[in-house]
Amino acid sequence: PPVSLIGVPTDIGAGHRGASLGPDALRIAGIGQALAARGVDVLDTGNLAGPPNPWQPPVGGYRHLEQVVEWNRALMQATLAELRRGRMPVMLGGDHCLAIGSIAAVAQHCRQAGKKLRVLWLDAHADFNTSEVTPSGNVHGMPVACLCGIGPDALTRLGGEGPAITPAQVRQIGIRSVDPEEKRLVKQHGLDIYDMRYIDEVGMKAVMQQALEGVDADTHLHVSFDVDFLDPGIAPGVGTTVPGGVNYREAQLVMEMIADTGRMGSLDIVELNPVLDNRNATAELAVDLVESLFGKSTLMRD
Ligand code: ARG
Ligand code: MN
Ligand code: MN
Ligand code: MN
Repeated sequence: PPVSLIGVPTDIGAGHRGASLGPDALRIAGIGQALAARGVDVLDTGNLAGPPNPWQPPVGGYRHLEQVVEWNRALMQATLAELRRGRMPVMLGGDHCLAIGSIAAVAQHCRQAGKKLRVLWLDAHADFNTSEVTPSGNVHGMPVACLCGIGPDALTRLGGEGPAITPAQVRQIGIRSVDPEEKRLVKQHGLDIYDMRYIDEVGMKAVMQQALEGVDADTHLHVSFDVDFLDPGIAPGVGTTVPGGVNYREAQLVMEMIADTGRMGSLDIVELNPVLDNRNATAELAVDLVESLFGKSTLMRD
């Protein structure tokens, strides 16, 4: 399908400044040209506008909640508009709080179209914190909980009544940093997590086969790609690096196996922070992996 790039230049949910420069870093790394070279009809809709980052400490367990809500309202509308035009929205983040708005829109669209939604959450973190247990107050550590209905009304009801998704629709891959209370919540809600230990033990191919099980012609696959999923050795340009991440070949396999399904209907690329990088190498790596997501293959037998 045709693709619409949606720039979401904000670091409102993060604990470091700089993810707001992510959209341009991805453009400079050639994301539009790379997709066009794949034969994709790609339209860059530009950057969304939203409130500036006031850089205040958390209040009641949330940092910048009001601004997070405003950004996500705007993104939800923009995402819905592209889906209704029959275009695949690709979010150029921006910090991971933006997945609240993008996925709320995707979930609403799937309900109306009678499609099943599966969310692949590629991340070092589970992002399942609440205001009671968050160690930071940063809302980029909370989007999965909010989407599952656990969080402030303004975020859990962004897409209308009821939660956008249930934990059963989510598969998390690459996880290796979960806060103690967050771990309890994740277990309580039965989230399907393929953590690094499991990836090491069974291998990425088996992990992806399991994570994609049941994805069929009626499934809309939403990929939420937090760049800190990758090992910091190859992707230093993120605010919350965690050692022991996914290596280059594993990441390529993940993207290729997603592409093979032919079911990806929307994509977030988040947490890229070019301030923490030099030569824009992390953005270039992200674009390289996105090419694979869109079917670029090194195989001789394709
Ligand atoms: N668990 C930590 C927190 O809640 C880190 C979250 C990092 N999230 C992210 N999207 N990078 O503060
Ligand atoms: Mn993360
Ligand atoms: Mn994340
Ligand atoms: Mn490439």
